[in-house]
Amino acid sequence: MAISSTIDIPVISEVPKHVAIIMDGNGRWAAKRFLPRTAGHARGVQSVRAAVETCGKMGVRYLTLFAFSSENWRRPADEVSLLMRLFVQALEREVSRLLDQGVRLRVIGDLSAFEPKLQELIVQAQAKTAHNDQLHLTIAANYGGRWDILQAMKKMMLAHPEYGADPGRIDESALSEHLSMSWAPEPDLFIRTGGEQRVSNFLIWQLAYTELFFSDCYWPDFSAEELKNAFEWYRHRERRFGRTSAQLQSHTTS
Ligand code: IPE
Ligand code: IPE
Ligand code: MG
Repeated sequence: MAISSTIDIPVISEVPKHVAIIMDGNGRWAAKRFLPRTAGHARGVQSVRAAVETCGKMGVRYLTLFAFSSENWRRPADEVSLLMRLFVQALEREVSRLLDQGVRLRVIGDLSAFEPKLQELIVQAQAKTAHNDQLHLTIAANYGGRWDILQAMKKMMLAHPEYGADPGRIDESALSEHLSMSWAPEPDLFIRTGGEQRVSNFLIWQLAYTELFFSDCYWPDFSAEELKNAFEWYRHRERRFGRTSAQLQSHTTS
C-alpha cells in the first residue's frame, strides 16, 4: 500500500514522483480569442499530450489530470456534451500513442453517470494499457474529493461491518486503502493553471502534504517549458512534513 504522509515521512526525490494537475482556463483562453469556450477544451487536448510526454521524459511515475469535476455537470448542456464527445474522441485516438509511450491509463470518478459507449471505451483503454508501467496516467472524470472519501467509507463499512459497533478501530489506513488512488503515492506536486488558487474538490484527502503550484497560464498555453518551470520550483521546496528546518538539515548532513 502507498505510504501516507501523515503516518510516515515519504522519501523525496528531485523530480516529483506524482504530479496532479487541475487543467483550468480553457474557457478564458477561447474567450480571449473570441472563440466559443468549447474551442478552448478542444485545444486543451494538445497540452495533455505535451504534459504526458514531458512527464514521461522527466521520470515522473504518476500523472493525474482533473478533466471533469462532479460539479461540472452544472455547466450548460451543450458544453457538457462537447466535453463528453472530446473524451470519447481522445480515448479512440490516443490509446495507441499511450501504448508507444509505455503509459498505463486509468480513469477515476463516478463513471456510472457516463453513457455506456464512454464507459466501454474506458474499460477497453484501461485493459489495453494495463501492462504498462513507465508512467501511470490517471484521468479524474466525474470526480470529486468528497465523493472519493464517501465511496471509500462505504466500501470500508461493507468490508468490515464490525466497525459499526466499534468505530474506534477505524484508523487512517483502514479508510485510505479504499480511496480511488490507493495504489499510487500521494501527489508531490499539485499544479493549477488558469490563475485561480483553489482546490475545487480535487484530491482533497491525498493533497494533505502536497506542494501547491499555481500558474496564471491558461491550460491550452501550458507548454512543456511551463511544466519544467513548475518542476524547478518544486525542486527548491523544503518539504518538512511537520518537522523543523533544523531537523531536516541535521538529517541530510548526518
Ligand atoms: C477547465 O477549463 C476545463 C474543465 C473544467 C472541463 P474551464 O472550462 O474551467 O475554463 P475557464 O476556467 O472557464 O476559463
Ligand atoms: C476544476 O475547474 C475542474 C477541472 C479542471 C476539471 P473548474 O473551472 O470547474 O473549477 P471552479 O468551478 O472554477 O472552481
Ligand atoms: Mg475553470
